Amino acid sequence: MNNVIDFIHASRERYVDELKQFLAIPSVSALPEHKGDVRRCAEWVAAELARIGLENVRVIDTAGHPLVYADWLHAEGAATALFYGHYDVQPVDPLDEWVSPPFEATVREGDIFARGASDDKGQVFVHLKAIEAHMKQAGRLPINVKVILEGEEEVGSEHLGPYVREHAAELLCDLVIISDTEMFDRGVPSLCYGLRGLSYMQIDIRGTKGDLHSGSYGGAVANPANVLAHVIAQLKDRSGTVRIPGFYDDVRPLREEERAEFRRLPFDEAAMKKHLGAPRLMGERSYSVLERIWARPTLDVNGLLSGWTGEGSKTIIPATAMAKVSMRLVPNQHPEKIAELFEACVRKITPKTVELKVTRLHGAMPWMTDFDNIYVQAAGRAIEKGFGKRPVYTREGGSIPVVSDFQAALNVPVVLFGFGLPDDNLHAPNEKFNLDNFFNGVLASAFLYQEIAAART
Ligand code: BES
Ligand code: MN
Ligand code: MN
Repeated sequence: MNNVIDFIHASRERYVDELKQFLAIPSVSALPEHKGDVRRCAEWVAAELARIGLENVRVIDTAGHPLVYADWLHAEGAATALFYGHYDVQPVDPLDEWVSPPFEATVREGDIFARGASDDKGQVFVHLKAIEAHMKQAGRLPINVKVILEGEEEVGSEHLGPYVREHAAELLCDLVIISDTEMFDRGVPSLCYGLRGLSYMQIDIRGTKGDLHSGSYGGAVANPANVLAHVIAQLKDRSGTVRIPGFYDDVRPLREEERAEFRRLPFDEAAMKKHLGAPRLMGERSYSVLERIWARPTLDVNGLLSGWTGEGSKTIIPATAMAKVSMRLVPNQHPEKIAELFEACVRKITPKTVELKVTRLHGAMPWMTDFDNIYVQAAGRAIEKGFGKRPVYTREGGSIPVVSDFQAALNVPVVLFGFGLPDDNLHAPNEKFNLDNFFNGVLASAFLYQEIAAART
Protein backbone atom coordinates (compact mmCIF):
# COMPACT_ATOMS: atom_id res chain seq x y z
CA MET A 1 0.00 0.00 0.00
CA ASN A 2 2.90 2.40 0.72
CA ASN A 3 3.98 2.58 -2.90
CA VAL A 4 0.39 3.24 -3.95
CA ILE A 5 0.25 6.17 -1.55
CA ASP A 6 3.67 7.46 -2.71
CA PHE A 7 2.46 7.30 -6.30
CA ILE A 8 -0.58 9.41 -5.41
CA HIS A 9 1.58 12.01 -3.65
CA ALA A 10 3.92 12.21 -6.64
CA SER A 11 1.02 12.63 -9.12
CA ARG A 12 -0.71 15.69 -7.69
CA GLU A 13 0.20 18.11 -10.50
CA ARG A 14 -0.56 15.62 -13.24
CA TYR A 15 -4.01 14.94 -11.73
CA VAL A 16 -4.96 18.59 -12.09
CA ASP A 17 -3.83 18.72 -15.74
CA GLU A 18 -5.81 15.60 -16.58
CA LEU A 19 -8.91 16.70 -14.71
CA LYS A 20 -8.85 19.92 -16.76
CA GLN A 21 -9.25 17.87 -19.94
CA PHE A 22 -12.29 16.04 -18.52
CA LEU A 23 -13.80 19.37 -17.44
CA ALA A 24 -13.22 20.92 -20.87
CA ILE A 25 -15.91 18.77 -22.51
CA PRO A 26 -19.30 20.56 -22.25
CA SER A 27 -21.38 17.45 -21.50
CA VAL A 28 -24.60 19.32 -20.66
CA SER A 29 -27.27 16.61 -20.69
CA ALA A 30 -30.26 18.96 -20.63
CA LEU A 31 -29.47 20.79 -23.88
CA PRO A 32 -30.00 19.10 -27.28
CA GLU A 33 -27.20 21.17 -28.84
CA HIS A 34 -24.72 19.40 -26.54
CA LYS A 35 -25.80 15.85 -27.45
CA GLY A 36 -22.56 15.32 -29.41
CA ASP A 37 -20.48 16.68 -26.54
CA VAL A 38 -22.13 14.29 -24.09
CA ARG A 39 -21.17 11.38 -26.33
CA ARG A 40 -17.65 12.74 -26.79
CA CYS A 41 -17.36 12.90 -23.00
CA ALA A 42 -18.54 9.27 -22.67
CA GLU A 43 -15.86 8.26 -25.16
CA TRP A 44 -13.20 10.31 -23.37
CA VAL A 45 -13.95 8.68 -20.05
CA ALA A 46 -14.16 5.21 -21.63
CA ALA A 47 -10.67 5.71 -23.09
CA GLU A 48 -9.46 6.79 -19.65
CA LEU A 49 -10.94 3.66 -18.02
CA ALA A 50 -9.11 1.49 -20.55
CA ARG A 51 -5.88 3.45 -20.09
CA ILE A 52 -5.81 2.86 -16.32
CA GLY A 53 -6.17 -0.87 -16.86
CA LEU A 54 -9.87 -1.64 -16.55
CA GLU A 55 -11.33 -4.26 -18.87
CA ASN A 56 -14.53 -4.81 -20.87
CA VAL A 57 -14.82 -1.09 -21.43
CA ARG A 58 -18.02 -0.25 -23.29
CA VAL A 59 -19.96 2.84 -24.28
CA ILE A 60 -23.56 1.64 -24.07
CA ASP A 61 -26.24 3.38 -26.12
CA THR A 62 -29.59 4.13 -24.53
CA ALA A 63 -32.61 5.96 -25.88
CA GLY A 64 -30.98 9.02 -24.27
CA HIS A 65 -27.32 9.66 -23.49
CA PRO A 66 -24.84 6.75 -23.32
CA LEU A 67 -23.72 4.79 -20.27
CA VAL A 68 -20.10 3.81 -19.80
CA TYR A 69 -19.19 0.45 -18.28
CA ALA A 70 -15.85 -1.13 -17.32
CA ASP A 71 -14.67 -3.75 -14.85
CA TRP A 72 -11.70 -5.53 -13.34
CA LEU A 73 -12.63 -8.89 -11.84
CA HIS A 74 -9.43 -10.70 -10.97
CA ALA A 75 -9.41 -10.37 -7.16
CA GLU A 76 -10.56 -13.91 -6.59
CA GLY A 77 -12.52 -14.40 -3.39
CA ALA A 78 -12.57 -10.66 -2.63
CA ALA A 79 -15.64 -8.44 -2.54
CA THR A 80 -16.98 -6.73 -5.66
CA ALA A 81 -17.73 -3.02 -5.55
CA LEU A 82 -19.87 -1.26 -8.15
CA PHE A 83 -18.77 2.34 -8.57
CA TYR A 84 -21.38 4.73 -9.94
CA GLY A 85 -20.96 8.36 -10.99
CA HIS A 86 -22.19 10.77 -13.65
CA TYR A 87 -20.22 12.51 -16.37
CA ASP A 88 -23.03 14.85 -17.45
CA VAL A 89 -23.26 18.37 -16.06
CA GLN A 90 -25.83 21.12 -15.54
CA PRO A 91 -26.27 24.02 -17.98
CA VAL A 92 -23.99 27.01 -17.28
CA ASP A 93 -26.35 29.97 -17.43
CA PRO A 94 -26.14 32.75 -16.33
CA LEU A 95 -22.83 32.69 -18.18
CA ASP A 96 -21.84 36.30 -17.40
CA GLU A 97 -21.60 35.52 -13.68
CA TRP A 98 -18.70 33.11 -14.16
CA VAL A 99 -15.33 34.57 -13.16
CA SER A 100 -13.55 32.19 -15.57
CA PRO A 101 -15.16 30.30 -18.49
CA PRO A 102 -17.10 27.21 -17.27
CA PHE A 103 -15.33 24.81 -19.63
CA GLU A 104 -11.81 26.18 -19.15
CA ALA A 105 -11.01 24.86 -15.70
CA THR A 106 -9.04 27.43 -13.71
CA VAL A 107 -7.27 26.98 -10.37
CA ARG A 108 -7.63 29.85 -7.89
CA GLU A 109 -6.50 29.64 -4.26
CA GLY A 110 -6.61 25.88 -4.04
CA ASP A 111 -9.95 25.40 -5.79
CA ILE A 112 -10.54 24.28 -9.37
CA PHE A 113 -13.40 26.21 -10.99
CA ALA A 114 -15.43 24.68 -13.85
CA ARG A 115 -18.88 23.28 -14.54
CA GLY A 116 -18.81 19.68 -13.24
CA ALA A 117 -15.75 20.28 -11.02
CA SER A 118 -17.58 18.94 -7.97
CA ASP A 119 -20.80 17.59 -9.54
CA ASP A 120 -19.67 15.08 -10.55
CA LYS A 121 -16.65 14.86 -12.88
CA GLY A 122 -14.11 15.79 -10.20
CA GLN A 123 -15.49 13.17 -7.84
CA VAL A 124 -15.59 10.50 -10.55
CA PHE A 125 -11.98 11.36 -11.35
CA VAL A 126 -11.03 10.79 -7.71
CA HIS A 127 -11.88 7.10 -8.13
CA LEU A 128 -10.22 6.77 -11.52
CA LYS A 129 -7.00 8.07 -9.98
CA ALA A 130 -7.26 5.72 -6.99
CA ILE A 131 -7.77 2.77 -9.34
CA GLU A 132 -4.89 3.95 -11.52
CA ALA A 133 -2.56 4.16 -8.50
CA HIS A 134 -3.29 0.55 -7.49
CA MET A 135 -3.01 -0.75 -11.05
CA LYS A 136 0.23 1.12 -11.80
CA GLN A 137 1.97 0.21 -8.55
CA ALA A 138 0.57 -3.22 -7.70
CA GLY A 139 -0.62 -4.36 -11.12
CA ARG A 140 -3.92 -5.28 -9.49
CA LEU A 141 -6.77 -4.05 -7.30
CA PRO A 142 -7.45 -5.31 -3.76
CA ILE A 143 -11.10 -5.96 -4.74
CA ASN A 144 -13.16 -6.59 -7.85
CA VAL A 145 -14.52 -3.40 -9.37
CA LYS A 146 -17.33 -2.64 -11.78
CA VAL A 147 -17.74 0.93 -12.97
CA ILE A 148 -20.96 2.35 -14.38
CA LEU A 149 -21.05 6.00 -15.40
CA GLU A 150 -24.12 7.85 -16.53
CA GLY A 151 -24.79 10.82 -18.82
CA GLU A 152 -28.33 11.61 -17.68
CA GLU A 153 -28.21 12.09 -13.92
CA GLU A 154 -28.89 15.80 -14.14
CA VAL A 155 -32.04 15.17 -16.18
CA GLY A 156 -33.50 12.45 -13.98
CA SER A 157 -31.69 9.19 -14.89
CA GLU A 158 -34.55 8.04 -17.09
CA HIS A 159 -32.70 5.17 -18.74
CA LEU A 160 -30.32 3.95 -16.04
CA GLY A 161 -33.06 2.69 -13.68
CA PRO A 162 -34.49 0.25 -16.27
CA TYR A 163 -30.94 -0.70 -17.33
CA VAL A 164 -30.01 -1.61 -13.76
CA ARG A 165 -33.14 -3.75 -13.40
CA GLU A 166 -32.58 -5.54 -16.73
CA HIS A 167 -28.86 -6.09 -16.17
CA ALA A 168 -28.93 -6.85 -12.46
CA ALA A 169 -27.07 -10.12 -13.05
CA GLU A 170 -24.15 -8.37 -14.80
CA LEU A 171 -24.04 -5.66 -12.15
CA LEU A 172 -24.06 -8.17 -9.28
CA CYS A 173 -21.86 -6.87 -6.46
CA ASP A 174 -21.43 -6.67 -2.69
CA LEU A 175 -21.78 -2.92 -2.38
CA VAL A 176 -22.27 0.24 -4.42
CA ILE A 177 -19.89 3.20 -3.98
CA ILE A 178 -20.94 6.69 -5.02
CA SER A 179 -19.03 9.96 -4.72
CA ASP A 180 -21.64 12.59 -5.62
CA THR A 181 -22.37 14.23 -2.26
CA GLU A 182 -20.77 16.77 0.03
CA MET A 183 -18.66 16.82 3.15
CA PHE A 184 -20.42 18.47 6.07
CA ASP A 185 -17.93 21.32 6.02
CA ARG A 186 -14.30 22.19 5.32
CA GLY A 187 -12.23 19.73 7.38
CA VAL A 188 -15.35 17.73 8.35
CA PRO A 189 -15.46 14.65 6.11
CA SER A 190 -18.74 12.76 6.07
CA LEU A 191 -20.62 9.67 5.08
CA CYS A 192 -24.13 10.32 3.85
CA TYR A 193 -26.96 7.96 4.86
CA GLY A 194 -29.99 9.72 3.40
CA LEU A 195 -31.13 11.56 0.27
CA ARG A 196 -34.37 13.37 -0.41
CA GLY A 197 -36.59 12.22 -3.25
CA LEU A 198 -38.17 14.40 -5.89
CA SER A 199 -41.33 15.03 -7.88
CA TYR A 200 -40.76 17.56 -10.63
CA MET A 201 -43.86 19.06 -12.26
CA GLN A 202 -44.72 21.61 -14.91
CA ILE A 203 -47.89 23.71 -14.98
CA ASP A 204 -49.02 25.27 -18.26
CA ILE A 205 -51.96 27.65 -18.34
CA ARG A 206 -53.60 29.11 -21.45
CA GLY A 207 -56.18 31.88 -21.36
CA THR A 208 -56.71 32.82 -25.00
CA LYS A 209 -55.50 32.03 -28.54
CA GLY A 210 -52.93 34.81 -28.41
CA ASP A 211 -51.77 37.79 -26.36
CA LEU A 212 -54.43 40.51 -26.03
CA HIS A 213 -54.40 44.31 -25.70
CA SER A 214 -54.66 44.71 -21.95
CA GLY A 215 -56.77 47.83 -22.29
CA SER A 216 -59.28 46.42 -24.78
CA TYR A 217 -59.85 43.21 -22.85
CA GLY A 218 -58.44 43.65 -19.32
CA GLY A 219 -61.11 42.92 -16.74
CA ALA A 220 -63.18 40.70 -19.04
CA VAL A 221 -60.90 37.63 -19.45
CA ALA A 222 -58.75 35.63 -17.06
CA ASN A 223 -55.07 36.56 -17.08
CA PRO A 224 -52.96 33.35 -17.07
CA ALA A 225 -50.11 35.06 -15.21
CA ASN A 226 -52.44 36.22 -12.43
CA VAL A 227 -54.13 32.82 -12.31
CA LEU A 228 -50.80 30.97 -12.12
CA ALA A 229 -49.50 33.28 -9.39
CA HIS A 230 -52.67 32.66 -7.40
CA VAL A 231 -52.44 28.88 -7.87
CA ILE A 232 -48.79 28.84 -6.77
CA ALA A 233 -49.57 31.02 -3.77
CA GLN A 234 -52.02 28.39 -2.52
CA LEU A 235 -49.50 25.52 -2.67
CA LYS A 236 -47.36 26.65 0.27
CA ASP A 237 -48.00 29.07 3.10
CA ARG A 238 -45.72 31.79 4.42
CA SER A 239 -44.23 29.58 7.11
CA GLY A 240 -43.14 26.98 4.55
CA THR A 241 -45.90 24.43 5.11
CA VAL A 242 -47.09 22.76 1.91
CA ARG A 243 -50.87 23.12 1.53
CA ILE A 244 -51.51 20.21 -0.85
CA PRO A 245 -54.02 17.90 0.86
CA GLY A 246 -52.37 14.60 1.86
CA PHE A 247 -48.83 15.87 1.20
CA TYR A 248 -47.53 14.96 4.66
CA ASP A 249 -49.52 11.73 5.11
CA ASP A 250 -46.60 9.35 4.51
CA VAL A 251 -43.83 11.42 6.10
CA ARG A 252 -41.95 9.31 8.61
CA PRO A 253 -41.47 11.48 11.72
CA LEU A 254 -37.93 12.39 12.65
CA ARG A 255 -36.67 10.29 15.55
CA GLU A 256 -35.60 12.21 18.66
CA GLU A 257 -32.18 10.45 18.64
CA GLU A 258 -31.60 11.55 15.07
CA ARG A 259 -32.51 15.14 15.89
CA ALA A 260 -30.01 14.97 18.75
CA GLU A 261 -27.33 13.72 16.32
CA PHE A 262 -28.08 16.62 13.98
CA ARG A 263 -27.69 19.07 16.87
CA ARG A 264 -24.24 17.69 17.62
CA LEU A 265 -22.96 18.63 14.13
CA PRO A 266 -20.93 21.85 13.89
CA PHE A 267 -23.53 23.71 11.83
CA ASP A 268 -22.95 27.45 11.39
CA GLU A 269 -26.22 29.12 10.46
CA ALA A 270 -24.69 32.61 10.21
CA ALA A 271 -22.03 31.34 7.79
CA MET A 272 -24.68 29.73 5.61
CA LYS A 273 -26.73 32.94 5.55
CA LYS A 274 -23.66 34.90 4.57
CA HIS A 275 -22.61 32.45 1.85
CA LEU A 276 -26.10 32.56 0.34
CA GLY A 277 -26.48 36.32 0.61
CA ALA A 278 -29.96 35.81 2.09
CA PRO A 279 -31.35 38.58 4.35
CA ARG A 280 -32.88 35.84 6.52
CA LEU A 281 -33.38 32.10 6.41
CA MET A 282 -36.93 30.74 6.58
CA GLY A 283 -38.82 27.49 6.98
CA GLU A 284 -41.00 25.39 9.22
CA ARG A 285 -40.67 26.89 12.66
CA SER A 286 -40.47 23.70 14.69
CA TYR A 287 -37.52 22.36 12.68
CA SER A 288 -33.87 23.42 12.59
CA VAL A 289 -32.22 24.43 9.31
CA LEU A 290 -30.54 21.03 8.93
CA GLU A 291 -33.82 19.26 9.64
CA ARG A 292 -35.61 21.43 7.07
CA ILE A 293 -33.03 20.60 4.40
CA TRP A 294 -32.37 16.96 5.16
CA ALA A 295 -35.45 15.49 6.71
CA ARG A 296 -38.51 17.56 5.79
CA PRO A 297 -40.28 17.64 2.43
CA THR A 298 -40.80 20.92 0.62
CA LEU A 299 -42.15 22.57 -2.54
CA ASP A 300 -40.38 25.17 -4.66
CA VAL A 301 -40.97 27.00 -7.92
CA ASN A 302 -37.87 26.42 -10.05
CA GLY A 303 -38.89 28.63 -12.97
CA LEU A 304 -41.69 30.96 -14.06
CA LEU A 305 -42.52 32.30 -17.50
CA SER A 306 -45.23 34.57 -18.79
CA GLY A 307 -45.86 37.73 -20.77
CA TRP A 308 -43.60 40.63 -21.54
CA THR A 309 -40.23 40.37 -19.80
CA GLY A 310 -38.17 42.62 -22.08
CA GLU A 311 -37.16 46.18 -21.30
CA GLY A 312 -39.80 48.80 -20.75
CA SER A 313 -43.50 48.05 -20.90
CA LYS A 314 -45.83 46.35 -23.38
CA THR A 315 -49.50 46.44 -22.51
CA ILE A 316 -50.72 42.88 -22.96
CA ILE A 317 -52.66 40.13 -21.32
CA PRO A 318 -50.39 37.15 -21.96
CA ALA A 319 -51.99 34.14 -23.61
CA THR A 320 -50.02 31.64 -21.51
CA ALA A 321 -48.13 31.17 -18.26
CA MET A 322 -45.81 28.36 -17.21
CA ALA A 323 -44.21 27.23 -13.96
CA LYS A 324 -41.76 24.46 -13.10
CA VAL A 325 -42.28 23.19 -9.57
CA SER A 326 -40.22 20.68 -7.65
CA MET A 327 -41.14 18.88 -4.46
CA ARG A 328 -38.34 17.36 -2.38
CA LEU A 329 -39.51 14.25 -0.58
CA VAL A 330 -38.50 12.24 2.47
CA PRO A 331 -39.15 8.64 3.57
CA ASN A 332 -41.84 7.23 3.11
CA GLN A 333 -43.31 9.62 0.55
CA HIS A 334 -43.62 8.24 -2.96
CA PRO A 335 -42.94 10.49 -5.97
CA GLU A 336 -45.86 9.18 -8.01
CA LYS A 337 -48.37 9.54 -5.23
CA ILE A 338 -47.11 13.06 -4.53
CA ALA A 339 -47.36 13.91 -8.24
CA GLU A 340 -51.00 12.74 -8.19
CA LEU A 341 -51.83 14.79 -5.10
CA PHE A 342 -50.18 17.82 -6.70
CA GLU A 343 -52.10 17.41 -9.93
CA ALA A 344 -55.44 16.90 -8.16
CA CYS A 345 -54.85 19.97 -6.01
CA VAL A 346 -53.81 22.20 -8.93
CA ARG A 347 -56.83 21.03 -10.98
CA LYS A 348 -59.13 21.82 -8.11
CA ILE A 349 -57.88 25.36 -7.47
CA THR A 350 -57.42 26.44 -11.10
CA PRO A 351 -60.53 28.32 -12.32
CA LYS A 352 -62.47 27.14 -15.38
CA THR A 353 -61.65 30.43 -17.14
CA VAL A 354 -58.32 28.95 -18.34
CA GLU A 355 -57.02 25.74 -19.89
CA LEU A 356 -54.68 23.79 -17.63
CA LYS A 357 -52.00 21.23 -18.42
CA VAL A 358 -50.01 19.49 -15.69
CA THR A 359 -46.95 17.47 -16.75
CA ARG A 360 -44.78 15.14 -14.65
CA LEU A 361 -41.17 15.74 -15.67
CA HIS A 362 -39.37 13.25 -13.46
CA GLY A 363 -39.12 11.80 -10.01
CA ALA A 364 -36.78 10.14 -7.55
CA MET A 365 -37.44 7.99 -4.50
CA PRO A 366 -36.25 9.29 -1.13
CA TRP A 367 -33.55 7.05 0.31
CA MET A 368 -32.18 6.25 3.72
CA THR A 369 -29.94 3.45 4.91
CA ASP A 370 -28.53 1.87 8.04
CA PHE A 371 -24.89 2.56 8.54
CA ASP A 372 -23.94 -0.33 10.73
CA ASN A 373 -22.80 -2.61 7.88
CA ILE A 374 -19.16 -3.60 7.33
CA TYR A 375 -18.81 -1.54 4.16
CA VAL A 376 -19.90 1.75 5.67
CA GLN A 377 -17.55 1.03 8.57
CA ALA A 378 -14.73 0.30 6.08
CA ALA A 379 -15.51 3.62 4.35
CA GLY A 380 -15.23 5.37 7.72
CA ARG A 381 -11.73 3.96 8.27
CA ALA A 382 -10.71 4.89 4.71
CA ILE A 383 -11.84 8.48 5.25
CA GLU A 384 -9.93 8.62 8.51
CA LYS A 385 -6.77 7.50 6.71
CA GLY A 386 -7.27 9.86 3.74
CA PHE A 387 -8.39 12.97 5.63
CA GLY A 388 -6.81 12.38 9.04
CA LYS A 389 -10.26 12.70 10.65
CA ARG A 390 -13.18 10.43 11.40
CA PRO A 391 -16.26 11.17 9.31
CA VAL A 392 -19.57 12.48 10.65
CA TYR A 393 -22.84 10.94 9.42
CA THR A 394 -25.04 13.25 7.38
CA ARG A 395 -28.09 13.32 5.16
CA GLU A 396 -28.45 15.43 2.01
CA GLY A 397 -31.26 17.61 0.70
CA GLY A 398 -30.49 16.68 -2.90
CA SER A 399 -31.43 13.56 -4.82
CA ILE A 400 -29.56 10.87 -6.73
CA PRO A 401 -32.37 9.01 -8.49
CA VAL A 402 -30.52 5.77 -9.15
CA VAL A 403 -29.53 5.08 -5.53
CA SER A 404 -32.84 3.47 -4.63
CA ASP A 405 -32.83 1.56 -7.96
CA PHE A 406 -29.46 0.06 -7.05
CA GLN A 407 -30.64 -0.84 -3.60
CA ALA A 408 -33.86 -2.43 -4.88
CA ALA A 409 -32.41 -4.25 -7.92
CA LEU A 410 -29.11 -5.39 -6.41
CA ASN A 411 -30.14 -5.59 -2.75
CA VAL A 412 -26.75 -4.41 -1.44
CA PRO A 413 -25.59 -1.51 0.75
CA VAL A 414 -24.82 1.83 -0.91
CA VAL A 415 -21.92 3.88 0.46
CA LEU A 416 -22.13 7.62 -0.25
CA PHE A 417 -18.55 8.70 0.00
CA GLY A 418 -18.60 12.35 -1.12
CA PHE A 419 -15.92 15.05 -1.21
CA GLY A 420 -17.75 18.21 -2.27
CA LEU A 421 -18.30 21.21 0.00
CA PRO A 422 -21.55 23.06 0.77
CA ASP A 423 -20.15 26.18 -0.95
CA ASP A 424 -19.11 24.39 -4.17
CA ASN A 425 -21.85 26.24 -6.11
CA LEU A 426 -23.45 23.12 -7.57
CA HIS A 427 -25.81 23.92 -10.47
CA ALA A 428 -24.78 27.59 -10.17
CA PRO A 429 -22.12 29.89 -11.64
CA ASN A 430 -18.52 29.39 -10.42
CA GLU A 431 -18.86 25.73 -9.49
CA LYS A 432 -15.64 24.58 -7.87
CA PHE A 433 -13.94 21.62 -6.23
CA ASN A 434 -11.38 22.00 -3.48
CA LEU A 435 -8.10 20.44 -4.61
CA ASP A 436 -7.13 19.29 -1.10
CA ASN A 437 -10.43 17.44 -0.91
CA PHE A 438 -9.81 16.02 -4.37
CA PHE A 439 -6.38 14.81 -3.35
CA ASN A 440 -7.41 13.46 0.07
CA GLY A 441 -10.34 11.84 -1.71
CA VAL A 442 -7.95 9.93 -3.97
CA LEU A 443 -6.07 8.74 -0.88
CA ALA A 444 -9.31 7.78 0.90
CA SER A 445 -10.57 5.90 -2.17
CA ALA A 446 -7.29 4.04 -2.53
CA PHE A 447 -7.58 3.07 1.16
CA LEU A 448 -11.25 2.19 0.70
CA TYR A 449 -10.54 -0.67 -1.72
CA GLN A 450 -7.95 -1.94 0.73
CA GLU A 451 -10.31 -1.62 3.72
CA ILE A 452 -13.13 -3.41 1.87
CA ALA A 453 -10.78 -6.28 1.07
CA ALA A 454 -9.73 -6.46 4.72
CA ALA A 455 -13.31 -6.23 6.01
CA ARG A 456 -14.25 -9.42 4.22
CA THR A 457 -11.36 -11.61 5.35
N1 BES B 1 -24.92 15.52 -6.90
C1 BES B 1 -26.28 15.97 -6.92
C2 BES B 1 -27.04 15.53 -5.68
C3 BES B 1 -26.64 16.36 -4.49
C4 BES B 1 -27.13 17.65 -4.39
C5 BES B 1 -25.80 15.87 -3.53
C6 BES B 1 -26.76 18.43 -3.32
C7 BES B 1 -25.41 16.67 -2.49
C8 BES B 1 -25.90 17.95 -2.38
C9 BES B 1 -26.94 15.43 -8.16
O1 BES B 1 -26.14 15.57 -9.30
C10 BES B 1 -28.18 16.23 -8.45
O2 BES B 1 -28.07 17.40 -8.71
N2 BES B 1 -29.32 15.57 -8.46
C11 BES B 1 -30.51 16.17 -8.93
C12 BES B 1 -31.40 15.05 -9.31
C13 BES B 1 -32.54 15.43 -10.21
C14 BES B 1 -32.09 16.08 -11.48
C15 BES B 1 -33.39 14.21 -10.49
C16 BES B 1 -31.12 17.03 -7.85
O3 BES B 1 -31.00 16.74 -6.66
O4 BES B 1 -31.72 18.05 -8.22
MN1 MN C 1 -24.27 14.92 -8.97
MN1 MN D 1 -26.26 17.76 -9.88
